[in-house]
Amino acid sequence: MTSTLFKLNDGNELPLLGFGTYLITRQSEITRVCDEALKAGYRSFDTAAFYNNETELGLAFKKLLPKHNLTRKDIYITSKLWIDDHGGGAKTENAAKESLRKLQCEYLDLYLIHWPGAGGLAPSNPNNAVVRRQTWSTLVNLHKKGLLKSIGVSNYNIRHIKELVSDCDGVKPAVNQVEWHPHIYQPDLLEECRSHGILLQAFSPLGGTNTKAVLQDPVVNSIAEQLKVTPGRVLIRWIIQHKVAVIPKAASSKHIEENVQVDFVIPPNLMEELNKRPIHRKYDWDSDNIV
Ligand SMILES: NC(=O)c1ccc[n+]([C@@H]2O[C@H](COP(=O)([O-])OP(=O)(O)OC[C@H]3O[C@@H](n4cnc5c(N)ncnc54)[C@H](OP(=O)(O)O)[C@@H]3O)[C@@H](O)[C@H]2O)c1
Repeated sequence: MTSTLFKLNDGNELPLLGFGTYLITRQSEITRVCDEALKAGYRSFDTAAFYNNETELGLAFKKLLPKHNLTRKDIYITSKLWIDDHGGGAKTENAAKESLRKLQCEYLDLYLIHWPGAGGLAPSNPNNAVVRRQTWSTLVNLHKKGLLKSIGVSNYNIRHIKELVSDCDGVKPAVNQVEWHPHIYQPDLLEECRSHGILLQAFSPLGGTNTKAVLQDPVVNSIAEQLKVTPGRVLIRWIIQHKVAVIPKAASSKHIEENVQVDFVIPPNLMEELNKRPIHRKYDWDSDNIV
């Protein structure tokens, strides 16, 4: 699954199953986790300026790629622009270049606007739409220069996506990374993104680090028992069968290995049961009120 690729609307390819790194910050832990992830087959790594681990990831890859007989082009690195760096121009450009510097990369495979709202602006402030549009123009320039191979967004709802594709300097976002698991199944958002060739990528696929509600969901557990797999594997497989990309995070060796073992099939009736979970809530931040 880690070698399965999605073709993006800009012609580049993104690995279906990647690795989330939020909350892994100590150098020794980053190096161990990346070592185990590369050994398990992961080739795609998701970080963000906000995660405060780009420098550590850069150092880890420098050490680990030769060990695993890999080079930079064999791995896929995603980072994200933080809310304080919205607004385009030098501020946005410097933030992207700082991520490149910390990760010791000449290019990023994917760079996302982390959040549709700007730091310091109230969610209801109409200027949010103005500054995120300015941000996009700068990302398009960096994309055209080859520093950002693909560019996209994160936490954009249908309204934010419609607004951007209608006025995007000719470059539609390649990816929209959103919270996505059976407690926040969003077929309308999936449909909207697909209609523009935008790939949806699921963050917090296991419900995130703050709750076990999704992993402990009775339907998820009953399906896991029927298929003789773990609840975590059911959740990741459910996403993959929706043709949505996924980036589970795991610091424990057991989880790192377990989460790539998703080469089984959830039958259509059980997919439907997961689609129809009556709970509809995000456990992470919610951008719906960002103008
Ligand atoms: N764009 C955004 O706004 C945004 C927001 C949140 C996250 N993200 C990205 O998405 C990634 C994944 O989301 P997330 O970190 O919030 O949460 P997640 O991947 O849904 O869940 C991670 C939690 O699940 C545990 N876990 C991992 N595999 C498991 C398994 N097979 N069985 C049981 N438990 C398991 C992990 O434990 P251990 O670590 O102890 O193994 C950790 O506590 C992040 O790391 C980040 O890269 C993006």
